Amino acid sequence: MERFSEAVTGEMVGEVALICIDNPPVNAAGHEVRKGLTAAVSWLAGSGAKAAGLWCAGRTFTAGADVREFGKTPQPPSLPEVCNTLEASAVPIVAVMHGTALGGGFELALACHARIGLSGLRVGFPEVNLGILPGAGGTQRGPRLAGIAPVLDMALSGKPMPAEEALKHGLIDELTRGEPREVALDAARRAAAGDLKTRRTGELETPADTDAINAAQVKLAKKPGLNAPPRIVEAVAASTRPITEGLAEERRLFMECYDDPQRAALVHAFLAERAVAKYPEAGAKPRAVKRVGVIGAGTMGQGIATSCLLAGLDVTLVEVKEEALGRGEAAIAKNLDGAMERGKMTAAARAEAEAALDATTDMEALADADLIIEAAFEKMEVKREIFTALDRIAKPGAVLATNTSYLDVNEIAAVTSRPEDVIGLHFFSPAHIMRLLEIVVADRTAPEVVATGFALAKRLGKIGVRAGVCDGFIGNRILGNYARAAEHLVLDGAAPSQVDRAVRGLGMAMGPFEMADLAGLDIGYFNRRRRDPIRPPEERYSKVADRLVEAGTLGRKTGKGYYVYGESKPVPNPDLDGIVADERALSGIAPREFSDHDIRDRYLTAMIAEAARVVEDGIAQRPSDVDAVFLNGYGFPRHLGGPLHQADVIGAAELVRRMEEWSAEDPWQWRVPAILRRMADEGGTFAQLNG
Ligand code: CAA
Repeated sequence: MERFSEAVTGEMVGEVALICIDNPPVNAAGHEVRKGLTAAVSWLAGSGAKAAGLWCAGRTFTAGADVREFGKTPQPPSLPEVCNTLEASAVPIVAVMHGTALGGGFELALACHARIGLSGLRVGFPEVNLGILPGAGGTQRGPRLAGIAPVLDMALSGKPMPAEEALKHGLIDELTRGEPREVALDAARRAAAGDLKTRRTGELETPADTDAINAAQVKLAKKPGLNAPPRIVEAVAASTRPITEGLAEERRLFMECYDDPQRAALVHAFLAERAVAKYPEAGAKPRAVKRVGVIGAGTMGQGIATSCLLAGLDVTLVEVKEEALGRGEAAIAKNLDGAMERGKMTAAARAEAEAALDATTDMEALADADLIIEAAFEKMEVKREIFTALDRIAKPGAVLATNTSYLDVNEIAAVTSRPEDVIGLHFFSPAHIMRLLEIVVADRTAPEVVATGFALAKRLGKIGVRAGVCDGFIGNRILGNYARAAEHLVLDGAAPSQVDRAVRGLGMAMGPFEMADLAGLDIGYFNRRRRDPIRPPEERYSKVADRLVEAGTLGRKTGKGYYVYGESKPVPNPDLDGIVADERALSGIAPREFSDHDIRDRYLTAMIAEAARVVEDGIAQRPSDVDAVFLNGYGFPRHLGGPLHQADVIGAAELVRRMEEWSAEDPWQWRVPAILRRMADEGGTFAQLNG
């Protein structure tokens, strides 16, 4: 056995060689892998081997460049250099791939002289999700094997391609079963005997396909905002040129992407979504969950039940009245149909999921549930009543969860004799689609109950984020602050439609007033009434939304709210002008103009300020958890990384300057969080707090 680096070894087996990458968990092509592969190719040249097999130990072939090295000083050799070295090898090398061969990992394979996939393999170029492009020859070697169209599709979507399809397109030469090392040995022997065709990908030519390039450009022009996709098209288009020119062009475009702030934001988002799984109770063993009870068959309950059924769990759905239960069941059936239509489940799986649903008006049926999620009316008395009943009905060891969006989980837990089993599991609507799950840990929640929450999130394909107890937890608490900033903007002179437009201009999925109309204005109204007794006296209050509700306009569901909804595009509600003018007159406000830029600054600053306080108060474990919440539950644009990533981009000093300026008109709304003040005075960033 030869050792070339901490991650790469080689061995001679008769007249062929095997090169193995072993860099857990996903064999990322970090420095040790790159250094080792370069040494391995030199060794190969003098080894006398007639051919070699390249394989990976562990769960997968290389899943790409090591994302954790991004932004640090690059350590030679670079991945493109390693790929060129592999391709130049006089001894033919066959790559044998299992699991997922992604990004730079797949590029290593493309630079080999033949490629074999093991069943279940998926190959892909996910770089676009990180704001970059396949920068180690993928845009040049991929089209030489498969043509331009499939490679463009793969690189622009970022979606992995199943091995069968890769075989069809010529991206792999064979698809087989077996252990990676054994298949690599057999492949090397066949290559040595001339029974497996080998060639240098770079010596092939890419057939021109201007139609595919033009079609991709037209499609991108309709979705501006992201900087990597047009560069991907440009790089792939260059693959019809000689390989050295094409590779140089790819490098140039790659570096443009790499230096783009979108890249830093997208890599931050990737790491933030993985960091959430590191929480204090992570060592605890989750409890087994087979049957989930869902209380409430309204919109939330329907979505939660659907999500559990899609994940193969049994569900007991409980509702008070038969009629509401029937409506809930019908909606779940429709959700399952939708999942089937989108190719998320087969007809057989759909039938199984429907059979796994037990809908009843009898709460006693929850006796055999392993985890029960209450998604009933958002009122403490209702929650208390339900948890008192659950304490009597649920089996010992069952996890008792509330889907409350705001209420005190400690208070809910206190009505039971088993507060250690009580937790908040805050889903986002529609719960079978939205990826976020806030896992709200109360004072006495047991570590294995927290671990069960995270295990459930994973099972449901969601991003679970640990939150502490406070009014609104992470997301809704922050929402409260920037929604208020938006209401103040309207009182002071901006139109709701201007605020929405400006916010959409930031890349947000929706503006605050469109969002309020979609959720139903009664939801906000009810929440404001709940907050009446706890609202700080310094808080400036806008009555505009209350007046809309009192006039019976509740948003989309009544066809009228901030906008009027008809056959065509929603238009601003004409009654608003009068309501807003009244409110301004009552408070003696002379309206002024705000530019879209002013609006965005205030909106984002209000979001960042409360996000900073959430971190300061320990409600979120780390700044990047807040970002994961906003990316997955609040439509925050991924290429901006999240509110606290943006805080670092804008800089604490500038944020403090803005808040101090605006605090002259509203000291409470624009009070400076201590953590930001410290960063402004002493230096430091939120990224540093992520560790
Ligand atoms: N670099 C560094 N670490 C990585 C990584 C990468 N490319 N991909 C995954 N990991 C780490 C994760 O951070 C995680 O680490 P912790 O356990 O310490 O948190 C661990 O590997 C497991 O990852 P997942 O939890 O995501 O595991 P999974 O089984 O759900 O998914 C996967 C595995 C499909 C490989 C998924 O991790 C994935 O999609 N990774 C990203 C792949 C990618 O984007 N590659 C392209 C990189 S860019 C590139 O290659 C550029 C170029 O051309 C030069």
